[in-house]
Amino acid sequence: MADTLQQGQIIHGCMRIAGMPVPEAGDLIGRALDAGINFFDHADIYGQGKSEAVFGDAIRRLGIPRDQLVIQTKCSIRAGFYDCSKEHIIRSVEGSLKRLGTDYVDVLLLHRPDTLMEPEEVAEAFDSLESSGKVKNFGVSNHNPMQIELLSKSCRQKLMFNQLQFSLVHTPIVDSGINVNLYNDDAMVRAGSILEYSRIHGITIQAWSPLQHGFIEGVFLDNPNFAALNHNLATMARKKGLTPATLAIALDFEASGQDAAYCRYDQSPKARGIKPGQGGLPFEARMVRTLFSSRKRITLIQTRQSPGLSWVL
Ligand SMILES: NC(=O)c1ccc[n+]([C@@H]2O[C@H](COP(=O)([O-])OP(=O)(O)OC[C@H]3O[C@@H](n4cnc5c(N)ncnc54)[C@H](OP(=O)(O)O)[C@@H]3O)[C@@H](O)[C@H]2O)c1
Repeated sequence: MADTLQQGQIIHGCMRIAGMPVPEAGDLIGRALDAGINFFDHADIYGQGKSEAVFGDAIRRLGIPRDQLVIQTKCSIRAGFYDCSKEHIIRSVEGSLKRLGTDYVDVLLLHRPDTLMEPEEVAEAFDSLESSGKVKNFGVSNHNPMQIELLSKSCRQKLMFNQLQFSLVHTPIVDSGINVNLYNDDAMVRAGSILEYSRIHGITIQAWSPLQHGFIEGVFLDNPNFAALNHNLATMARKKGLTPATLAIALDFEASGQDAAYCRYDQSPKARGIKPGQGGLPFEARMVRTLFSSRKRITLIQTRQSPGLSWVL
């Protein structure tokens, strides 16, 4: 199963399907499967459970065999606080299974870190969910390296994934690594060297909102606030025979060392086009550098003449 999970580079995010009629959600799932995407991301809080319920109804109507789907869900966000208590984790998974209409999820992620969590309690919840067959694999989301270390102290299961916000215009996970010891904002370590930590420990980063700017404030594509980036994306996409959206996502794989999977919402026809595997497109270092540095706020992107820093190119 671990191999199956690692193969898919594109994950279909289901955060925005809560209000969708079930037949429409079925079409969406069908289009994803036709494009070779069978990994779906959920959370108990998406639409207060409606996203999971719509998805569950849609796969039931379509009659898709369960083993052809990889279903991931998340828990820990509650109204006004984060909760990684044993009781909440188990109760949340049971609710998700009911709504999704399945006996198990392939992956459970802790959605946000609960600073008051007791790692021993999380370990007991994971053991119980694993031994009952309700959860096959485990991971986290929006966690930094020390939080993962703390969990790993007690949890027997490998934390396979960390879902983090990452796009061409949201890059804290790479900024600090290329601005070490400099007097600029990008030198601030906001995510605790999570990219390097993930590479050392073989944790796959799942990038969420690959086309959004800010905290889910809208897409940066065709957004006049990102004029230089869009101009460069359009020019380069034309040369490669790709759409700007496809290029924007594929370039993120390049910048993150390709050890990443992407969570995206693919409802609109304009969003289509990216296929699993396109992260491996051969981009020139110059292209990646130009796009990352043509954002509104310029980040210092080093060149190949800087030994030891060239991995980001
Ligand atoms: N772990 C976390 O904390 C966390 C947080 C947020 C999200 N997530 C996960 O990440 C998934 C993806 O997040 P997201 O939906 O914000 O991702 P996204 O793909 O960055 O943004 C989706 C939006 O982009 C628009 N879009 C797509 N292609 C476009 C194009 N070519 N031109 C213009 N607009 C385009 C879509 O617009 P239309 O409406 O016009 O189609 C849609 O509203 C979620 O479903 C969820 O599973 C996780």
